[in-house]
Amino acid sequence: MSAYQGWEITEEQREIYRQRSKKSSKAKANALRGEGKKPIHAVNIPRLNPEDLMPQLPRNGIRALSLFSGGGGLDLGFERAGFSHVASYDILAGAGVTLRNVRPNWKVFAGEEGDVTKVNWRPYRGLVDVIQGGPPCQPFSIAGRQKGREDSRDMFPEFIRAVLEVEPLAFVAENVTALASEKFNQYVKEVIEAPLAGKYKLTKFILNASDFGIPQVRKRVFFVGFRDEKIAEKYEIPKPTYAWENVAASQRQESVQLNLFSFLTESQLLKRCMGVREALGLPDIGFDTLAPTLRSSLTGPRHTTSILSSVSAQKIWEKLQIWPNGVALDREKARLFVPENNHFRLSVPDCAILQGFPDSWPIAGAVYMALGQIGNAVPPPMAYQVARSLWGVLS
Ligand SMILES: C[S@@+](CC[C@H](N)C(=O)[O-])C[C@H]1O[C@@H](n2cnc3c(N)ncnc32)[C@H](O)[C@@H]1O
Repeated sequence: MSAYQGWEITEEQREIYRQRSKKSSKAKANALRGEGKKPIHAVNIPRLNPEDLMPQLPRNGIRALSLFSGGGGLDLGFERAGFSHVASYDILAGAGVTLRNVRPNWKVFAGEEGDVTKVNWRPYRGLVDVIQGGPPCQPFSIAGRQKGREDSRDMFPEFIRAVLEVEPLAFVAENVTALASEKFNQYVKEVIEAPLAGKYKLTKFILNASDFGIPQVRKRVFFVGFRDEKIAEKYEIPKPTYAWENVAASQRQESVQLNLFSFLTESQLLKRCMGVREALGLPDIGFDTLAPTLRSSLTGPRHTTSILSSVSAQKIWEKLQIWPNGVALDREKARLFVPENNHFRLSVPDCAILQGFPDSWPIAGAVYMALGQIGNAVPPPMAYQVARSLWGVLS
C-alpha cells in the first residue's frame, strides 16, 4: 500500500500546474546558473538551534519502539530525553534514508519491510517499555477529507494491535487535533478506547508547539496510555516552558504588578519563543511572528515544494516578507533564486528549524520528500517534553 494518496484533479488543473511548474523550473535553472535576478539577501545564519530546546538527558534505560517514524521527530525527541531506541518502522523508503543517515546504528525498517500491517509484534514483548508513533493523520485532517475508519490510510487499529501484542508499560500516539473533536468521539471510543479497556489507562491532551520554543503555530493531540493504574494516576502532562513573545511579556508584567516577580524562580518563568525571522536569523523589519502551520508536501493533491497551508497563512508569510513556495534544497540555492516579489526564499534546512529539527538531523531526499517528512513530524522539542513526562513516572 502506498502511504501517499493524491487527490483527484482535473486534466485542466493538471495542465495549469504543469505550465506553472515548467516556468518556475526555467527561472530556477537560470538563477542557479547566475543568470537570474541579482541576489539581495545574504545566506542566513539561524539564531535558533533546536538542540537548545531539548538538552540531552542521560540515558534512562527506558526502551522505546517507534511506529510510523517518518523523518524521526518523535524518535529524536525521545532520544534527547534519554530513551533507548529499539527500532523504527515506516513504509516510506525516504524516511529510512533520513533515519539511517543520521543514526547508522539504529534498527530501521523502511519501505516494504517497514509496513506495520505486515509485522508480528509479539517477539518484541519484554524488550520494549514504550511504543510511540504518529499514525497517518489524513483520515482525520480536513485536507484528507476526514473519512476516519473509511479511509484505507487509517492505521490506528494497527497501532493498537502493536500495543496489545507487545504489552509495553506505556504508549504515546500523536495526531491532528481534529481527532480530539466531537466528530471523532465515536471513532476514539471504538477504535482506541474499547480494545484497550481494562488493559491501559488513557490520558488525552493537546500541546502547542510554541509553548516549547518552536516558532510555529502548530497544535497536536497526544494519547498516552499506562498499563499500571497507579502510574497513570501520578502522570502529569507536559507544562509549557516557552511562550510566544506577547504572552511571555504579559506574564512578566503580571508578576511584577502582583509583586511576585522576586518569588518566581527562573524555571517557573516561561522563556520567550522566537518568531520566524529571528529564528532564521533574518534582518529586523519591524515585524515578526510565529510561522503558520507548515504543511506536509506529501499529503496534498500532488507533491509540491511549498509549505503553504492556507490563504490566511499566505497573508502572514507576505507580512513576514518570506516566500513559502518553491522551497530550495539549501540556503545557497535559496539565496540565488530570488522570488519575483524579492522576499526571502525558504530552504529545506530553514523549514526543518521551524519544525524543531536541528541542523545535526538533516532530512534527506529531494525537496518535496524532505518537506513531506518535515511537515509530517512531531517537532522534536515537543516530543522531548512528552518523553520527559513519561520518564517522570516510569523511572
Ligand atoms: C504523521 S507521519 C509520522 C511522523 C513521525 N511520527 C515524526 O514525528 O516524524 C505518518 C507516517 O506513517 C507512515 N505510514 C503510513 N502507512 C504506513 C504503514 N502501513 N506502515 C508503516 N508506516 C506507514 C507514513 O509514511 C508517514 O511517514
